[in-house]
Amino acid sequence: MKAVILVGGQGMRLRPLTCTLPKPMLPLINRPFIEHVLAHLKRHGIDEVILSAGYLPATFDDYFKEIDDLGLKLELVAEDTPLGTCGAVKNVADRLDDTFMVFNGDILTDINLSHLLEYHRQKGAMATIALTSVDDPTSYGLVPLKGDGQVEAFIEKPNWDDVTTDLINAGTYILEPEALALAPAGENYSFERGLFPLMLDRGLPVYGWPAGSYWLDIGSPEKYMRAHHDLLDGKILFDFAGSELKPRVWVGEGTVVDPGAMVYGPVVMGKNCVVEADAVVVGPTSLGDDCVISAGARVEGSVLLNGCRLAGSAVIKNSILGRRVSIGRKVHVDDVSVLGDNLAVGEDNLLRHGIKIWPDTKIGPGTITF
Ligand code: GTP
Repeated sequence: MKAVILVGGQGMRLRPLTCTLPKPMLPLINRPFIEHVLAHLKRHGIDEVILSAGYLPATFDDYFKEIDDLGLKLELVAEDTPLGTCGAVKNVADRLDDTFMVFNGDILTDINLSHLLEYHRQKGAMATIALTSVDDPTSYGLVPLKGDGQVEAFIEKPNWDDVTTDLINAGTYILEPEALALAPAGENYSFERGLFPLMLDRGLPVYGWPAGSYWLDIGSPEKYMRAHHDLLDGKILFDFAGSELKPRVWVGEGTVVDPGAMVYGPVVMGKNCVVEADAVVVGPTSLGDDCVISAGARVEGSVLLNGCRLAGSAVIKNSILGRRVSIGRKVHVDDVSVLGDNLAVGEDNLLRHGIKIWPDTKIGPGTITF
């Protein structure tokens, strides 16, 4: 079975993290997110994957060149201009001559793909869309079903008055090549607003399958952080790399945690980190490789990517630090704030209320205090 993973979006909502890495290459517990997606596909017997890229495509190439044995055949296809979700798959239609799967590259899920495929075949569908329920359907595309499982309509971002179901498109599809044949070539075209509604209009068999599984799109800072918390809290299967220093505290090779440091799991630390005496790390927290948490600093419920350094009395709470962020003394970061790569924050700054700071910025001492 072949699968296409869509990884070409610019990930605007996750800026500034996506200024330097495409969303599917952002680490999730110290592994590029796309690795979690590939592991899920492999568990369900998918052995050939086409990555449809467009935004910063070289980052995928560089990464996969370094991996010897992925256990599946991988091809990267980069588009010159964004073709949209369906246009991107149409772009590789010549490689898809049998039933195939399509995945949004920003979804963390354990949907049972084998059952989805069984359902697709049993119904004789031309397209089957995995569905998931959400608490607030108004910011998604709703997919109400008829009694036999056929899709009744596609309703984009409805008002609460028009909400007739909590089932939304989970960004996971099974398609027959005949469905793709209906899509226009070489233009920006979407599944959600283009191909699927067109198929409904033509009376073609489009089915929905409520998956009832864990499902989260990592498209915003809140959700990117929640994905970390959910993995650390064991809500979805994950094999933690490194050794377990104490229950639910995993550390990579070369990491040194001073016996005088206070670490409360679930916490993952990458390789070669240093946590000094009197530093406090409270889970769910993920530290990348080469992070330094100095004496008196505190990290809680946060995500720090590789190479972050906190000086004494710095506090990072429920926030995300990109790669190589340096935080001065008595800096307080809180409320899902997001700091881009290579940021240097001088002492005595307060970065709160979901502030986002772009990469390579230097903030002098006592500059931001609201
Ligand atoms: P936002 O800009 O924050 O909305 O994120 P996004 O650019 O990732 O868009 P969205 O979340 O709607 O995309 C869903 C999935 O489709 C993601 O995995 C994207 O990488 C992918 N995607 C979106 N547009 C394109 C495109 O034009 N080409 C390709 N190849 N992939 C796309």
